[in-house]
Amino acid sequence: MNTTRLPFASTALATRLSDHAARITALGFRGLRAEDPNRYQHLSVEAEGVLLDFSRQQIDSAVLTDLLALAQASQVSEGFAAMFRGDVINPTEQRSVLHSALRDQSGTPLLVAGDDVRALVNEERARRRQFVQAVTSGERLGATGSRITDVINIGIGGSDLGPVMAVEALKSYANPAMTVHFVSNIDGVQWADLSARLHPASTLIVICSKTFTTLETLSNATLARAWIVERLGEAAVGSHFAAVSVNQSAMNAFGIAPHARFALWDWVGGRYSLWSAIGLSVELAIGSENFDALLQGAYAMDQHAQAAPLAMNLPVLMGLLAVWNRHYLQQTSHAVLPYNQRLHRFPAYLQQLSMESNGKRVRRDGTPVDYPTEAVLWGEAGSNGQHSFFQLLHQGTDAVSMDLLLSACSSVDLQDSHELAIANALAQAEAFALGYTESEALAELQAKGLSKSAASALAPHKVHLGNRPSSLLLFARLDPATLGKLVALYEHKVFVESVLWDINAFDQWGVELGKQLADRLTPAVRGQGVAVEPSIAAILARLSHWNR
Ligand code: F6P
Repeated sequence: MNTTRLPFASTALATRLSDHAARITALGFRGLRAEDPNRYQHLSVEAEGVLLDFSRQQIDSAVLTDLLALAQASQVSEGFAAMFRGDVINPTEQRSVLHSALRDQSGTPLLVAGDDVRALVNEERARRRQFVQAVTSGERLGATGSRITDVINIGIGGSDLGPVMAVEALKSYANPAMTVHFVSNIDGVQWADLSARLHPASTLIVICSKTFTTLETLSNATLARAWIVERLGEAAVGSHFAAVSVNQSAMNAFGIAPHARFALWDWVGGRYSLWSAIGLSVELAIGSENFDALLQGAYAMDQHAQAAPLAMNLPVLMGLLAVWNRHYLQQTSHAVLPYNQRLHRFPAYLQQLSMESNGKRVRRDGTPVDYPTEAVLWGEAGSNGQHSFFQLLHQGTDAVSMDLLLSACSSVDLQDSHELAIANALAQAEAFALGYTESEALAELQAKGLSKSAASALAPHKVHLGNRPSSLLLFARLDPATLGKLVALYEHKVFVESVLWDINAFDQWGVELGKQLADRLTPAVRGQGVAVEPSIAAILARLSHWNR
């Protein structure tokens, strides 16, 4: 792989970065810390109540200086400006990218194709607030006069992952009289489990689909509609469904009452749509004031991304570190490890955000890249991961980069327990960076009384190579505003990466082929006599035998 060709203005800069990578790899983290014990002082930045400690990354001040030059040469700030002012930065779909307008608090008009986007957003926001108020206050009841106590969000991808992540993250702020559930998967299992225990009379179903054509969502929505109609009658559909889509005619055809239809626009990408009416289920769970705080938090991060100098700019720094780890240190995967159980769906949410956005192999002009783009992102909440895959993180053959997220305060008023989580997060970050050498292992084992030969036999198994780069993301507490900041921070980090790689972060053509093939195969699976390729026919025959 060519590690010097990147779409950056300066080849000399790219060469310098490659040289740095060789130097830093040879030095290792222990060497870096020995050279500069006060790394934290200049390798950490705090803004908007979020502290990024990147002092355990495999960098030093010289690397940082050149990475910042890379951001400058790649015109990251200009990229932000183009996105925020509504330029068509998604050329393959001819769209502006304006999820930031959904949380804008400035009120300044913003024209896209002749429409004032901010006015549209405010109008829909007010309708949503009214709807949420009517449902949660009991003014809007089910068809039989029952109060709504349960909400089912039916959607998938961006119409599910953001809402489910936020509802889980903000459980401590939730209205105990309203429980929100999620159905996304195509196989009907989630629907069957939920519909067996919920009462249609007290359930509101929110169908979230930007396009209203997504197979999974339509299939689950059809099951839900039948459930309501069978138990409460056709006339109940209007009282028990709401929907969010750009597709007004499909919402109409489904029977969604006009006041329960919420609009979305082409300039909001699915994976960036949490801030729109796609967040309706979140707002029903936590209330409109808390949802406003979520939007305000994201807006604060938008302001920061646009205004902060590159060296103090959290998303810029995170994007640069990601490119450094991926491109110069050849890391293939990135783990997100939140040390707060409330964030247990955050890695899943980030998977779509990051891999659907930047999992691309061509540049904006369609020419193939000759450098690696997005790493595989995965993760798990805090100490659960320690007892599962941390073994590989510490001693596996591939080095993985990591973000460890950590709040100062417990989300559930169990500060003693939370402090155990804090200690573990910090300990892991140190262990990932420093490792544990063979001579340290030998000394420890001999001090424990092992013979020299027994200690020598065991020591190699105890070695941790270290040099696993990680960042800590710290904040006071996981409240709605902070969640808004964190999500917007990652959105902008992903954008920064895309600017550096010169790829379009806002289309997703890679999801189409599989969908088309599945559409073609469905009649064959249902035995409707469609000709298929012999290997598929053999599998279908076997499945059909087992399904007799
Ligand atoms: O997986 C492809 C995708 O188009 C995502 O980008 C999107 O979030 C998801 O499907 C759901 O799409 P929709 O909201 O249109 O149902």
